[in-house]
Amino acid sequence: MAVLGIDSVTLEVPDLSAGVNFYTNAGLTAQVDGQRARFRCSGQSKDCIILLGGANAKRLHHITLRVEGLSEIARGVARHGGRLVDAPQGSAGRGIWLTDANGMLINLLDLPQDAPPSAGTAFAVNGPGRLVRKGRAAVLPLARCPPVTPVRLGHVLVFSPDVVKSVQFATQALGMGLADRAQDVIAFCCASRHSDHHVLAFAKSPAVGFHHASFQVNDPDEVGRGGRLLAQMAGKGDWGFGRHTIGSNFFHYIQDPWGSWFEYYSDIDYIDDYALWTPTNYALEDSLANWGPPVPPDFVHNYEVGANAPN
Ligand SMILES: [Fe+2]
Repeated sequence: MAVLGIDSVTLEVPDLSAGVNFYTNAGLTAQVDGQRARFRCSGQSKDCIILLGGANAKRLHHITLRVEGLSEIARGVARHGGRLVDAPQGSAGRGIWLTDANGMLINLLDLPQDAPPSAGTAFAVNGPGRLVRKGRAAVLPLARCPPVTPVRLGHVLVFSPDVVKSVQFATQALGMGLADRAQDVIAFCCASRHSDHHVLAFAKSPAVGFHHASFQVNDPDEVGRGGRLLAQMAGKGDWGFGRHTIGSNFFHYIQDPWGSWFEYYSDIDYIDDYALWTPTNYALEDSLANWGPPVPPDFVHNYEVGANAPN
């Protein structure tokens, strides 16, 4: 029994049209039905972001994880401080629903692992004594660059009032691995095999909330180009282009209409078998970036504090 990956994140938002605008500008495809908008990556057959409109403020509704061994997980939820709950009204009612040890709502679906995305052109970097690209330019004129469209949702970072407790639940009840952490302030969890460095991460805050969803693009150029364009269109904050120490991914974060974030990423570490991985506890100075622009002052601000209804 174990989590295989992140399936989707569902948010309540006050203004659905602002969300549709933001995520379609980010390169996702939208399907709107009344006060519900579903978004998926190009070429994918399932939704990765769901927005429920008409709320007073943006709020994390739930995350959905793909698992194997649903019934075995269900049997252990209460033992690890969680609670099995009824499916929320209006949901499809698939899989099982539970709250974790901090009260975060999670939907678990018994779904097979995604087929890997088709491989694009390799990002070839010439280096000293290592010429892997000869006789051609690496970069096209901007007008000839195709639009940046995310390939898949890779991970979600949520706020947690107790990161240690969140990780214990994720590892013990859900069979995830602790990939790395920075003290008790931020922690990154992976699937036990064939996993990106993290598929679910937790950052310390007074309350549960949504921080960001992260989408894989083809290469670092697309992170930079897509991030810059979306930042211009969104007109709020952004952070990037940069590279994380923890997970090693290139990143560009763009602030959504409600103060949380959308990340384009490329080249994240891969954990083929968690049994062979050694987690590191990093210093806080390594928790955000190895390099990049100055961090926006509200990058880790949880705008949902005070807006959370009890689960
Ligand atoms: Fe991220």
